[in-house]
Amino acid sequence: MQLHFSPSMRSVTISSSNGFVDLMKIKVAARHISYRTLFHTILILAFLLPFVFILTAVVTLEGVNKCSSFDCLGRRFGPRILRRVDDSERLIRDFHKILKEVDAAEIPNNMKVPDSFDQLVTDMKNNHYDARAFALTLRAMMDKFEREIRESKFSELMNKHFAASSIPKGIHCLSLRLTDEYSSNAHARKQLPSPELLPLLSDNSYYHYVLSTDNILAASVVVRSTIQSSLQPEKIVFHVITDKKTYPGMHSWFALNPVSPAILEVKGIHQFDWLTRENVPVLDAVENHDSIRNYYHGNHIAAANLSSTSPRTFASKLQARSPKYISLLNHLRIYLPELFPNLDKVVFFDDDIVIQQDLSSLWDIDLEGKVNGAVETCKGEDEWVMSKHFKNYFNFSHPLIARSLDPDECAWAYGMNVFDLKAWRKTDIRDTYHYWLKENLKSNLTMWKLGTLPPALIAFRGHVYPIDPLWHMLGLGYQVNTDIESVKKAAVIHYNGQSKPWLQIGFEHLRPFWTKHVNYSNDFIRSCHILES
Ligand SMILES: *[C@@H]1O[C@H](CO)[C@@H](O)[C@H](O)[C@H]1NC(C)=O
Ligand SMILES: *[C@@H]1O[C@H](CO)[C@@H](O)[C@H](O)[C@H]1NC(C)=O
Ligand SMILES: *[C@@H]1O[C@H](CO)[C@@H](O)[C@H](O)[C@H]1NC(C)=O
Ligand SMILES: *[C@@H]1O[C@H](CO)[C@@H](O)[C@H](O)[C@H]1NC(C)=O
Repeated sequence: MQLHFSPSMRSVTISSSNGFVDLMKIKVAARHISYRTLFHTILILAFLLPFVFILTAVVTLEGVNKCSSFDCLGRRFGPRILRRVDDSERLIRDFHKILKEVDAAEIPNNMKVPDSFDQLVTDMKNNHYDARAFALTLRAMMDKFEREIRESKFSELMNKHFAASSIPKGIHCLSLRLTDEYSSNAHARKQLPSPELLPLLSDNSYYHYVLSTDNILAASVVVRSTIQSSLQPEKIVFHVITDKKTYPGMHSWFALNPVSPAILEVKGIHQFDWLTRENVPVLDAVENHDSIRNYYHGNHIAAANLSSTSPRTFASKLQARSPKYISLLNHLRIYLPELFPNLDKVVFFDDDIVIQQDLSSLWDIDLEGKVNGAVETCKGEDEWVMSKHFKNYFNFSHPLIARSLDPDECAWAYGMNVFDLKAWRKTDIRDTYHYWLKENLKSNLTMWKLGTLPPALIAFRGHVYPIDPLWHMLGLGYQVNTDIESVKKAAVIHYNGQSKPWLQIGFEHLRPFWTKHVNYSNDFIRSCHILES
């Protein structure tokens, strides 16, 4: 079987070994389709799809310019044309045979692979390829392109990972300026809340929201969106917890941008007497363990096997290695009963959420004695985000895991949780959490990778009350095709993927739900050029 390309590249002739059958003729009059594009696609299809389909597609190109895809062309004209081609059956058999052979064949190491389809076509015009050589070349090209695409995909993911785990300039600037302000401006240091309101911080007739973050801009969005969506902002008390280095800046922000009639306090973790090495021994270990530092800050691409890893798996592995998972601010939520000894109930927020509705009925939900009101993540429309069971988080090859856990148990999400602290204080949740953290450290992190959720999944077993998923929509920032209508309807939206709305890599169409709560007329925001392009 031979392939001939005419010098004008406008016709391809396939001849059988014992006769000359002019089977393929491409005469493209289509004005709307680039001839070159079509031609390349034909070459690919010729290799990937059964020959029959190519015949159909190619022959029907003549005079048809309404269809923009081969699929459409094939469907419209296939059968009619096929019946006209009489001598095709044997050729198809031959071609199939060649494709099969080539598919199984090793590609010779020294084979010269054209760099582009243009070059392939040029080669073809100059040399007479037999069908086998043609198919083999094409397959080598496809392999090479696929490899290149994979590699660039992986390095794109790496870049994204670094973009996602480093602090954007604007946010860093905001923190610096506000910290400056704290030392130079007495207003920025004023007591929060004012002294006469202090008793309300432990008044259980108020709605207490806890937020733990070192990102001032994100904190401002969470607080502002909660208050703006609330029907009774005067009943809200915010407890913003941050680390020592962010404390002055965070305090400045909320001192200069009051949230009244709501009440707000800013706490640094250094101000909680309870948070000592004796009470929190594991966290010390978590932050100092060598192999852990390596794991979160090491060379990720070197450790990955690119030929056996899909980009999606790689992306989720990178996500798991975000340094934020070893930060105390993230583990802090497990100490809520001790940090707020006078409170009976709190709602804990992550910093990558936006509140879009009044949350007072969330407080009315009867948790039936359970500790943690959370959205379950094992059922839902979004397959990628809402199909999480214990087997997605734990290594069930590990004997202790296999012995203790059920792989099919439904997972739930952090992000917005109602915690009944009174019920919590009667449990051993914290000790269980500590026990499992230690075990995982002892086994060199082979039991699970993702930082804060897995030990909590274990520790809260039997203490979780599933709340309606409409309360808390997860998965913004994982993928492009998030359903916008659902985003609009959700009470709380959660950008729990790595594409945070405050990063350049954030998804443009999801960003406005977040940016509408950023005050762009604020001097600090303006002078730091936050999210300007
Ligand atoms: C990567 O995975 C492939 C396929 O599973 C395997 O053949 C290869 O040996 C692995 N390479 C390394 C360095 O582990
Ligand atoms: C953990 O890693 C260390 C050093 O790499 C090794 O000596 C130790 O045996 C490992 N422990 C387990 C339980 O695998
Ligand atoms: C899972 O656990 C087994 C047994 O401890 C261990 O050999 C394996 O490396 C672990 N897998 C991962 C990905 O840590
Ligand atoms: C936005 O910032 C400006 C300047 O700091 C301030 O006057 C205004 O009240 C703020 N708007 C809101 C809604 O907080």
